[in-house]
Amino acid sequence: MIARALYRSGLVLAIVLTLAACGESAPRASGALSTPHAVKLKTYPELVVGFAQIGAESEWRTANTRSIQTTADQLGIELDLSDAQQQQANQINAIRSFIAQGVDVIGVSPVVETGWDEVFAEVKQAGIPLILLDRSANVPAELYSVRIGSDFVEEGRRACGELARLLDGQGSIVVLEGTQGSAPMLGRGAGFQECLQTYPGLHVLASQSGDFIRARGKEEMAALLQTHGNSIDGVFAQNDDMALGAIEAIEEYGLRPGIDIKIVSIDAVRAAFEAMIAGKLNATIECNPLLGPLFFATALNLANDLPVEKWIKPDEGVYRQDTAAQELPNRLY
Ligand code: AHR
Repeated sequence: MIARALYRSGLVLAIVLTLAACGESAPRASGALSTPHAVKLKTYPELVVGFAQIGAESEWRTANTRSIQTTADQLGIELDLSDAQQQQANQINAIRSFIAQGVDVIGVSPVVETGWDEVFAEVKQAGIPLILLDRSANVPAELYSVRIGSDFVEEGRRACGELARLLDGQGSIVVLEGTQGSAPMLGRGAGFQECLQTYPGLHVLASQSGDFIRARGKEEMAALLQTHGNSIDGVFAQNDDMALGAIEAIEEYGLRPGIDIKIVSIDAVRAAFEAMIAGKLNATIECNPLLGPLFFATALNLANDLPVEKWIKPDEGVYRQDTAAQELPNRLY
């Protein structure tokens, strides 16, 4: 579906650019053919984009930043990429600096869901299109142009379905949560809880935040093992990095990850496939970070006042141990 969405958004622009190249007038956003004068459309090398990234907490995030950076380089786009080091205040400052620079489009992956109304209203006031890339924000829909990113609630449902299958619907689970108040932490948690209602034999013993960081996942899993010991049957790690940390903690505790304790996580990074091949991770739910091409195709459409969908969702799968070796060579992150 990512290809389909890219095709759709790219197609609109491609048609318009062809018309412009032929000296014909371009369709307006309303779809009506416009004035007798050709409209001068921006092209990729004319775009100036500011992107307020969260940081580098996980392999997923590193792949996401790389995708944005390399796509900008390939298309000749001027990109101001800021790294907020997990601080919302830094993201807000970056957005204000993009407004002051007068960039064509602003992108942000909001580290947490709330606290954005004021700065997003400033972006709107400046007339700059705003793309929420990856994470969503809890703001009125008119404060941003489009969100490009995964359905986190569905990811949580899928993770629960996998654990229920692995545990035959019976057992005690611990949850390693991502950054508190972030859209993936809240969405995945909600989807997981919703699906658990259909499995009365499964219950959550405890939840701890590992902040989407591998070392924190290990630390929290070690503490959970100290408290709950051999009564843990399954782990739901809200990302692969924390699952990889949990695997280390389980081994150090003297149990076999993937066998004594079933583990399901989210992202589908290469290291998760290696862990599945080694039999230590049972399943991973895909969350695609390779959003750079879709981000800039959408930015170009917005900069040219062309219509875009409000929520563009990548197409994502579920991967298990039995296909991990076959899939690994195809993984791009
Ligand atoms: O927002 C996406 C999440 O953020 C990914 O699952 C996680 O790995 C990342 O840090």
